[in-house]
Amino acid sequence: MRRYPFKEDFLWGASAAAFQIEGAWDEDGKGESIWDRYCHNPGNVANGDTGDVACDHYHRYREDIALMKELGIQVQRLSISWPRIFPRGTGKINQKGLAFYRDVIDCMLENGIQPFVVLYHWDLPQKLQDAGGWANRETASWFADYAQVMFEALRGKVRFWATILEPQVIAYNGNWMGNMAPGIKDFSTALQVAHNLLRGHGLAVKRFREMGMTGEIGIINYFPTAYPATEAEEDRKAAVRHDGAWTRWFLDPVVKGRYPEDMWRWYQEQGVVLPELCPGDREVISQKIDFLGVNYYYSDFVKAGTDIWPTMVSLAKPPVEQFTQMGWPVYPEGFYDALMRVQRDYGIKMIVTENGGAFHDVVNWKGEVNDDARVNYLHDHLIQLHRAIQDGADVRGYLVWSIMDNFEWAFGYEKRFGIVYIDYPTQKRIVKESGRWYGKVIRSRGTKEELW
Ligand code: FCB
Repeated sequence: MRRYPFKEDFLWGASAAAFQIEGAWDEDGKGESIWDRYCHNPGNVANGDTGDVACDHYHRYREDIALMKELGIQVQRLSISWPRIFPRGTGKINQKGLAFYRDVIDCMLENGIQPFVVLYHWDLPQKLQDAGGWANRETASWFADYAQVMFEALRGKVRFWATILEPQVIAYNGNWMGNMAPGIKDFSTALQVAHNLLRGHGLAVKRFREMGMTGEIGIINYFPTAYPATEAEEDRKAAVRHDGAWTRWFLDPVVKGRYPEDMWRWYQEQGVVLPELCPGDREVISQKIDFLGVNYYYSDFVKAGTDIWPTMVSLAKPPVEQFTQMGWPVYPEGFYDALMRVQRDYGIKMIVTENGGAFHDVVNWKGEVNDDARVNYLHDHLIQLHRAIQDGADVRGYLVWSIMDNFEWAFGYEKRFGIVYIDYPTQKRIVKESGRWYGKVIRSRGTKEELW
């Protein structure tokens, strides 16, 4: 029989994001965010879904936190909605917004749950988008001002802080592919956005240190492993470029203090307008971080091609049998490879801040959700995580995506990632089979043979 024991101080938990669960989009003085605007423009989100109500977590957080406790969650990742705190992005603080997060965090602490706070999970105040959004250098300073307010308000209560979540998705999906808010389609803008996101990150870390905050601060990245689709030299090079665009472009400046030279040159040759670098930017961006958040869902199989400009790559059909409801290939070995690669190339302490899958869940006649596919997904990925740790990856915790079904951005409510099912018409919560299974893994730290 197999066992996968994790260390006693390994942290177990779950993640969620403000916009995806809170609802109450215009309550208690909250300002409009770019995601409110994006949803309210018809045609952007599947089925015309919006975040107006979502899981109504804004009103039901006590019930939700009780459920987290019941499942054995030790760390819960939440994000702060910037426009709840600053409805116009800067200027006057909305005290009701601040009070909401103070209450949520106190409630978690009273229930023995450690809050892990993400400052930016994509819901930029619309007013700041009107002023150029992240393409505007000033947005990075406004972000640092907002971060400072949150540090002060939650001082001493939060052990883990993250600045920006998945800058690559914000820059690329939001500003290059245009399939997420704010819906811009320009690669050069995306690189300028990326640069300012990284500056915003660095400026917030600087404030954190200057304010003498306790706890740890880091950034969260998205890590598809890029494999060459064949052994051909041109495909190998294509995979290096794909990885350069998605991973190295965002992590090298933070950890190594510079953009990857091969990519910089490649983009110049493709006629891309590169970001404006000002004196001091490098130093700001490369502030020392305490940990790196790793989000892993799937891997990419890459070949040289013309589908994607400016990297000049195409994505090949992945050599796997199973795909999730998102159409993402299930490839747990890619998780192992991602963790080992971060350890090897960046040598930094990691926390897995997202991992999970969307599957077609149904409530059966007994009122239960038997999501075996999700149990299998988590099972297989945790085994790879265990293997990576055995082989030297310094991973300190694992947070599943997500604690509950929620608003999956442009896909709306159709795609369910939760370990708790949400019946949207009634807002009833049903713990799925995967939630029960995960709870047992947490309580036994993986030591029980029957779980594997
Ligand atoms: C990640 C996002 C998260 C969720 C999952 C499925 O990229 O951070 O909000 O949408 O994907």
